[in-house]
Amino acid sequence: MEFLTRRKAMPGSETAASSPGGLRRTLSWPHLVALGVGAIVGTGIYTLIGVGAERAGPAVILAFVIAGVVCVCAALAYAELAAMIPVSGSAYTYSYVTLGEGAAWLVGWSLILEYTVVCSAVAVGWAGYFAGMLEGLGWGLPAALTLAPTQGGIVNLPAVIIVGVVAAMLILGTRESAQVNTVLVVVKIAALIAFIAIAAPHFNPDNLQPFMPYGFAKSGTDGAEVGVMAAAAIIFFAFYGFDAVATAAEETRNPGRDLSIGIVGSMAVCIILYIAVAGAALGAMPFTEFMRSPEPLAHIVRTVGSDFWATLIAGAAVVALPTVILAFMFGQSRIFLVMARDGLLPRRLARVSARSGGPVRVTAGTAILMAVIAGFFPLGELAALANAGTLAAFTAVGICLIVLRRREPDRPRLFRAPAWWLVGPLAIGGCIYLFFSLPTATQINFVIWNMIGVVVYLLYSRRGSLLNHAKSSPGAME
Ligand code: ALA
Repeated sequence: MEFLTRRKAMPGSETAASSPGGLRRTLSWPHLVALGVGAIVGTGIYTLIGVGAERAGPAVILAFVIAGVVCVCAALAYAELAAMIPVSGSAYTYSYVTLGEGAAWLVGWSLILEYTVVCSAVAVGWAGYFAGMLEGLGWGLPAALTLAPTQGGIVNLPAVIIVGVVAAMLILGTRESAQVNTVLVVVKIAALIAFIAIAAPHFNPDNLQPFMPYGFAKSGTDGAEVGVMAAAAIIFFAFYGFDAVATAAEETRNPGRDLSIGIVGSMAVCIILYIAVAGAALGAMPFTEFMRSPEPLAHIVRTVGSDFWATLIAGAAVVALPTVILAFMFGQSRIFLVMARDGLLPRRLARVSARSGGPVRVTAGTAILMAVIAGFFPLGELAALANAGTLAAFTAVGICLIVLRRREPDRPRLFRAPAWWLVGPLAIGGCIYLFFSLPTATQINFVIWNMIGVVVYLLYSRRGSLLNHAKSSPGAME
């Protein structure tokens, strides 16, 4: 069983200190904050706020705080590892270098699930605003074509289409440029600030009473779990995407300073903004009136403000949310590439197109899967499953932080997480608590996914692994 613990060699410190691949160090912390906010702000705040309110009532505000704190800890661990191991593959690569092949495989397998389902979930969130915007313009779509079968529809057609559009952009070689990203970040943030400005004057403290109607810990029957933690386990979705900042380590001018400001700064912006949005939303009307809306923020503005502003906010979501899908679809293809390069997945998956420089077949194949999932499943279920995969990866990152601090305390670190002895355990413990606060059905589906992963590993990846062909020597191998 020693194959489970064989490790890839840590990239040399010279790799970490210089810029591998010749990438120029052009980014500074304002770029990184924009990059982070661009990948983070999406369906989580625009739509899942309703799903969270359904589970926690007004205390969904507390759920935002809890999920945010856990994510900040994970983000700090991420930043330290990203600056130390600035190569593709994120949590999968950190685990391979630190914990061994068995853990790395499970993290990679979880990331495949996460990236796939996040794209589907954001597409469903986008579709809610798209349908609402069309309706505002007088071109409403029939419900049968905007809802999943379990919600009384046939297929969520706009969600299927947006996955196809983003995949086509990626296949044609679109890279999100820094300028476009910055414009879209401004659009997303401006829409949230407009929402706060319109909803806040209608604040009625009675709407926050009772504050915690379903208690703190997860409770209730399967499929109808409630409580602040049940909400936090869903709202967690709103905070991730900051790995986009971590992966820019190679292009950062002063990684030690810029990465920490970039990651912590983008998380801080999001936490403050999210809590303000949640406070304004919950104060403006009873949560029961918007919790099931596919476009809760637009719904609230339409009710307390005007159709014009509701359509504008929906329009901002429609324009800006696809970048989140683009970021995760790109990340997905990178995970496949790295795992295939390591021999854990078929080499064919690592083949890139000469024209676009991207893995066309992998992108097209996974996009079909994402589109099918987006068309037929409701948002809450998708977000929960995506969160399960992400929580597994974040737990591994927390463990890697602690293991490397103990095993290699003197290795140069361009960025050091503050109070690692606290941040590491908080990230690990917080992620585990959030995982067990997910719906039981999600936990079971996640375990089934990983059992399939174990079978694939034992039958294929273990033998395909490059380390299997390397000269056997204990410990780290290249
Ligand atoms: N944090 C991202 C979102 O909320 C995934 O859409």
